[in-house]
Amino acid sequence: MLLFNFSSASKMMKKLLSAIYILLIFVSCDSGDIEEQAISIEDKGYTVKLTAVLSGIDSWESKYSVSLAGFTTGDNYAQVVRAIPNTTPDSTRIELVLSNIGDEINTVELAITNRLRERIITIARVNLDDYTNQKDTIYMDIGLTDVSRFGALQKGLFNMACIQCHGGNGGSGAASLNLTEGKSYSNLVNIPSTRKEGMMRVVSGNAQESLLHQIASDGGENLLHVNHTEILTNQFRENLNEVRQLIDDWINSLGDNNE
Ligand code: HEC
Repeated sequence: MLLFNFSSASKMMKKLLSAIYILLIFVSCDSGDIEEQAISIEDKGYTVKLTAVLSGIDSWESKYSVSLAGFTTGDNYAQVVRAIPNTTPDSTRIELVLSNIGDEINTVELAITNRLRERIITIARVNLDDYTNQKDTIYMDIGLTDVSRFGALQKGLFNMACIQCHGGNGGSGAASLNLTEGKSYSNLVNIPSTRKEGMMRVVSGNAQESLLHQIASDGGENLLHVNHTEILTNQFRENLNEVRQLIDDWINSLGDNNE
């Protein structure tokens, strides 16, 4: 009797176990479905197409790339990057597509990046939050663009953070400094400061001595009546040091060549 009971208990147990087993298969099948669905949603992520005619790509050293890159807000390392070859000659028409862009990416940028996929400076940007639920291709047509070091500073620094006070609304600009396209270089390089006697705005080949470098650096907050260090810090939350380095590299390279 006891034995019989045991055996029937064990049969019951077996039945129960196989029921659990079937349930497990069900659950795993189910979660498999969900996973597949998640993947297919990601497949339908954003697509951004860049069209441009770029010049100055070949002026970058091989450790840098001009690239179309996707970034998450707060992270200076790109999640996805498509680099344009540094050997691309001037005036080449570029068509570059970045697709399957996942929801974790907030901006797609034409940017200078380094080998670690770190953003140096942004030349043009599309904010994906402006395109919520748009599944059609997002076009980024930027026309003729100079992406050399100075071209990148013009687009990524002066146009972004400076021209609203320095010449952008038609006048000669604050402190008679005009930083708009075509004017900025000749307003900066080897031009005496109108505010700091004995200083140059940019000393060709010498960043440390240049007022531009000093007002962009920590410690430069009170050099002028407007705190330019703060302007820079607010504008470049993720790549402040990279932008500062780019300013210095540009100034230090002046005189070496025709940049
Ligand atoms: C909110 C307006 C404003 C913005 C934005 C601004 N500036 Fe200025 N800038 C000024 C004013 C005003 C002065 C003159 C300050 C003074 O009289 O001490 C000045 C002076 C300067 C000078 C010194 C010029 C000289 O001849 O001595 C430089 C260089 C300069 N700015 C560069 C920049 C750069 C680069 C940026 C962008 C990162 C920038 N500024 C953004 C208002 C601005």
